[in-house]
Amino acid sequence: MAKIGDIDVGDFPLLLAPMEDVSDPPFRALCKEQGADVVYTEFISSEGLIRDAAKSVMKLDIYEKERPVGIQIFGAILESMLRSVEIVEASGPDIIDINFGCPVKKVVSKGAGAGILKDIDLMVSLTEAMVKHTKLPVTVKTRLGWDHDSIRIVEVAERLQDVGCKAISIHGRTRAQLYKGDADWAPISEVKNNSRMHIPVFGNGDVDTPEKAMEMRDKYGLDGAMIGRASIGYPWFFKEVKHYFKTGTHCAPPTMTERVEAARRHLQMSIDWKGEKLGVFETRRHYTNYFKGIPNFKEHRMKMVTSDDSGSVFAAFDEVLEKFEDFQFAAY
Ligand SMILES: Cc1cc2nc3c(=O)[nH]c(=O)nc-3n(C[C@H](O)[C@H](O)[C@H](O)COP(=O)(O)O)c2cc1C
Repeated sequence: MAKIGDIDVGDFPLLLAPMEDVSDPPFRALCKEQGADVVYTEFISSEGLIRDAAKSVMKLDIYEKERPVGIQIFGAILESMLRSVEIVEASGPDIIDINFGCPVKKVVSKGAGAGILKDIDLMVSLTEAMVKHTKLPVTVKTRLGWDHDSIRIVEVAERLQDVGCKAISIHGRTRAQLYKGDADWAPISEVKNNSRMHIPVFGNGDVDTPEKAMEMRDKYGLDGAMIGRASIGYPWFFKEVKHYFKTGTHCAPPTMTERVEAARRHLQMSIDWKGEKLGVFETRRHYTNYFKGIPNFKEHRMKMVTSDDSGSVFAAFDEVLEKFEDFQFAAY
């Protein structure tokens, strides 16, 4: 049974990865309904939070139904990170997660995200200060290292644990790799096999089939899997992994009716939460996967991703349901 601080997160929990403009309250709710054990917000800038920037503050919205939920923050300046811990605490999350893995230039160039992998002492001292500044469990999400020649993740994870980090999620790529190549889970397994490690070690990167999740558990011996891209437009992934763990077989994929219903709810919840314009815009990236596998779908997809008003998108859903109601989706 894995525990993050005092929070029991079950046996081999499946965690929804923090994803910018994806892991928002509507999507987190859908993933939670489909079996995600822990969900994280997208990363939130500590500098944005202390400036009270509306966009950053809105990202703090969390709901009872999604617990346990972690709010992820990033930054490299101690004072800003500590102040943002206070701001984050006020929204009542269960976990505070620190992003030490974002590879994007504008984040890294300020020494934040994966940029901190060049200064492990700072990474450890920031974590320690944040742990001391809150009663909430602090977790870390990071990558294997800055580049292939500087991978010291076993030592780094141990040092983070020693200053009070309560769980670590490791994306099996370096910053230099960005998203290229395959994620390497062997170094994550080495972190787990370090006899001094006692906090949960969650694996991340390329888990896109139930078999891979099982491999992460059984072959690599990790404590849970953090799932990102495989869930975009496919919140059923969590349920499918759990079904596979239980039965060794794949469950039937969601029907067309279920997909349209989920897409509708997703869009409606997004509009309710962030307004018509952003709601329509930011839900677009999910439609490809909601309807993946349907032949000659381009015309319908184009309607969904180019319409600026929700009425046209809802109408496109209705059309799709009418035309493809009996379409048989393939399992893996
Ligand atoms: C669209 C997108 C946005 C992301 N935003 C974040 C983020 O805000 N914070 C973070 O720690 N990682 C972020 N990531 C990285 C993911 O959390 C995850 O580490 C990565 O996608 C690898 O996992 P996967 O192969 O399961 O997708 C993002 C990834 C994607 C695809």
